[in-house]
Amino acid sequence: MTPQDFDFVAQMLKRRSGLVITPEKAYLLESRMGPVARKHGLAGLDAIAQKLKAGDEKLAAEVTEAMTTNESFFFRDKTPFDHFEKLMLPALLQARAAQRRLRIWCAAASTGQEPYSLAIILKEKAALVKDWKIEIIGTDLSNDVLSRAKNGVYTQFEVQRGLPITLLVKYFNKEGEQWRIKDEIRSMVQYRTNNLLDPFTGFGTFDIIYCRNVLIYFDEATKKSILLRMSQLLPDDGYLLLGAAETVVGVSTAFWPVENARGVNMKANVVRPAALAAAKAVGA
Ligand SMILES: C[S@@+](CC[C@H](N)C(=O)[O-])C[C@H]1O[C@@H](n2cnc3c(N)ncnc32)[C@H](O)[C@@H]1O
Repeated sequence: MTPQDFDFVAQMLKRRSGLVITPEKAYLLESRMGPVARKHGLAGLDAIAQKLKAGDEKLAAEVTEAMTTNESFFFRDKTPFDHFEKLMLPALLQARAAQRRLRIWCAAASTGQEPYSLAIILKEKAALVKDWKIEIIGTDLSNDVLSRAKNGVYTQFEVQRGLPITLLVKYFNKEGEQWRIKDEIRSMVQYRTNNLLDPFTGFGTFDIIYCRNVLIYFDEATKKSILLRMSQLLPDDGYLLLGAAETVVGVSTAFWPVENARGVNMKANVVRPAALAAAKAVGA
């Protein structure tokens, strides 16, 4: 691929998904475009670049999806789910006792392990949330991963990563070599297509936003814009969860990291001691 073609494809990816791809990562293009080229009977990257330059929108969407990293697993990194159970959920159950409503958004939810992990925790706490209306919404740019998420069928390898065996046998049915999540959990999550670069219109507000392991692929300006727009969807006592390699520090002034609760952030207009007290109150 010529440097000009590389620049063209890199700019297209940045514009369509936020993904920043530098020349050192050109090997990623090579490895991920192979299957796309084969599917379309194209000779390789050069032929894909020519089609993209000619304005092939369908191919552009496919190339963009193929370049996303979709890795996810149940209860990934454990602490974001411990904080949900021990810090955020108790605080919000108290604060929303009158409305008995909670809304949770898993942005960039990929194949669904993150929203389903939250749904499983809520099912395990059924007595606490009885008569509550709790919505969990999972979104992603990629329709391929969303259809897998909606289907709720996972390989043996996928259910072995992070999911305790007790929860596997309780909430999944074995189907041949695979495991299907039970409808009682599947029905707790709704999925929608969403590109984080687009305005978050029609989303309403959320009490908790999980936006994990996606900002790492974006440049500073994109991260800043997404974080600012997410802060506008959260009330003052809402929470934003980021991935283990992600932080708001030095990126956005819209959030504070909550002390002693790694990965948990609250809105910066909440006085810092309040965030601290929230964490301490539940022993996080
Ligand atoms: C590594 S996965 C993270 C999955 C999950 N949040 C987790 O932490 O396990 C990243 C996901 O971000 C999605 N993604 C990438 N760019 C996106 C964008 N601009 N808007 C929405 N989703 C995007 C990808 O399709 C992919 O499924």
